[in-house]
Amino acid sequence: MRDGERAALSDALLDWYDHNARVMPWRVAPEDRKAGVRPDPYRVWLSEVMLQQTTVAAVRDYFRRFTDRWPTVADLAAAEDAAVMGEWAGLGYYARARNLLACARAVVRDHGGVFPTSRDGLLSLPGIGPYTAAAIASIAYDEAATVVDGNVERVMSRLWLVTDPLPGAKAELTRLAGLLTPLQRPGDYAQAVMDLGATICTPRNPACGICPWRAPCRARIEGVQATLPRKTEKAAKPVRQGTLWLARRSDGAWLVERRPDRGLLGGMLGFPGSDWDSAGGPEPLNADWRDMGEVRHTFTHFHLILRLSVATVAADATPSRGEFLSAASFRPADLPTVMRKAYDLAASGDLRV
Ligand code: ADE
Repeated sequence: MRDGERAALSDALLDWYDHNARVMPWRVAPEDRKAGVRPDPYRVWLSEVMLQQTTVAAVRDYFRRFTDRWPTVADLAAAEDAAVMGEWAGLGYYARARNLLACARAVVRDHGGVFPTSRDGLLSLPGIGPYTAAAIASIAYDEAATVVDGNVERVMSRLWLVTDPLPGAKAELTRLAGLLTPLQRPGDYAQAVMDLGATICTPRNPACGICPWRAPCRARIEGVQATLPRKTEKAAKPVRQGTLWLARRSDGAWLVERRPDRGLLGGMLGFPGSDWDSAGGPEPLNADWRDMGEVRHTFTHFHLILRLSVATVAADATPSRGEFLSAASFRPADLPTVMRKAYDLAASGDLRV
């Protein structure tokens, strides 16, 4: 493809974006950008980290709560770990939340509270990998960095008819995406490709009829767009199992413990449990434990089934681990999803001894 053809492609997409950009609380609309409004790198960073976890629709509320509570990177850097982990609860992959705090603190400590302006500078920060660095550099600072997420991979595989499967084809798709990244308006362009993938070039039933890249799209010309990108079949996820003990004191306090910083659900509040490769283990206190069924949750690399043992215990009960949190200070919303499922099940039952 010649330079002129590439420029025609990015022009067509930017023109589409000018009329169809999705409205997002962290986004500066294309007309405002043209009028000189610059996005706040803190908001771009925060939204991009959250968007790696879940959908735009789900991120909106989290983003609003975070930015209401911590309007600047300095505010976030000064936050208590537990408060940030609590606000992140439900988004999953809690190492990201710990890195979020580490990054905010590094920006304040090492960069005077200002995010580095280049992709390479951004890459030096904790928790910022190639995707996030390219997203911030392009969206916040208009550096011609190439942003490649799942949407972009899908769009590129179709536009260029890449039939090799992912993840092997990743490098090639990144190279092809890079060929199209324009020097003019790279920030809008990055957001435009992602919006195109999210709204038109969707995994199933892509809306090719209204796509600005309809004519040059090689997969559409061949009629194979809905089959791309191909993916190497993944190995089935193993199943791990364990037990959780949910003890509620007669005054309504719950026995909880903060999980160690390292490992799954690191730094999050939870209920005491066994290893996830054993059903039993020492109970955290002597009680009349009752089986309340099980909760299931899927992590990136395995399925988890936890059996719930539930008890109501006396006011002077002394656990061997964890601590009782009074009903007033226990916030179910602070729990990671698997623990929240356990709480909902236990709280729905009759816990009187
Ligand atoms: N998905 C992740 N980041 C995005 C962005 N900045 N615009 C549109 N979709 C996205």
